[in-house]
Amino acid sequence: MTPRPAPHAAPDPGALPPLPAHGPLVVLCGPMGSGKTTVGRALGRRWSVDLRDTDADVERRAGTDIPEIFRAHGEAEFRRLEHEAVAAALAEHRGVLALGGGAVLHPGTREALAAYVAGGGVVVFLDVSLEHAAPRVGLDASRPLLQGDPRQRWADIMAERRPTYEAVATLRVPTDGRTAGEVAREIERRLRAAARGA
Ligand SMILES: Nc1ncnc2c1ncn2[C@@H]1O[C@H](COP(=O)(O)OP(=O)(O)O)[C@@H](O)[C@H]1O
Ligand SMILES: [Mg+2]
Repeated sequence: MTPRPAPHAAPDPGALPPLPAHGPLVVLCGPMGSGKTTVGRALGRRWSVDLRDTDADVERRAGTDIPEIFRAHGEAEFRRLEHEAVAAALAEHRGVLALGGGAVLHPGTREALAAYVAGGGVVVFLDVSLEHAAPRVGLDASRPLLQGDPRQRWADIMAERRPTYEAVATLRVPTDGRTAGEVAREIERRLRAAARGA
């Protein structure tokens, strides 16, 4: 009987797509429930690199969770902290980077992403419809921006941010009806295709 590989065995080095010279191997952006954290983890496993998540970075620095930062200091202060976290991660992290859903709202963050892309970096917009995001997130109004009618709020926020996601991203990957693993494989395939000039 052929032994099966361990679930976390290091991937074939050939699994790694061509890499940007500096910074993260790939940056993931998109709305709440698009799968940034989950797909980021799947890519990290495939490539044997770490996932860094700016939501977690902000919470660690602030010593409290994001809803509490919103309550105590407001959205503008959260965005400022988030911008610092993204700038630091773009400079330091050589792995997969997942951004908070609203990180792209900060002009300084958009500039930092543009500089990263100019240096060969890849920013992926994980796209998702309300119908698919709703069951993933629960849309139960526990997230700070979803007070009131969570479905309507999610849809409004997505409509408002979509042009920004499209502007900062070098690649848009639809996630409706696909597992996080399928999305990760699609990202890898598209990076290879882009590197071949396809
Ligand atoms: N492609 C997918 N299909 C189905 N469920 C998904 C998919 N991607 C993520 N999920 C699930 O949706 C929830 C939110 O995913 P998460 O990665 O935390 O999103 P984000 O970080 O973009 O807010 C998690 O429970 C996750 O397991
Ligand atoms: Mg997340």
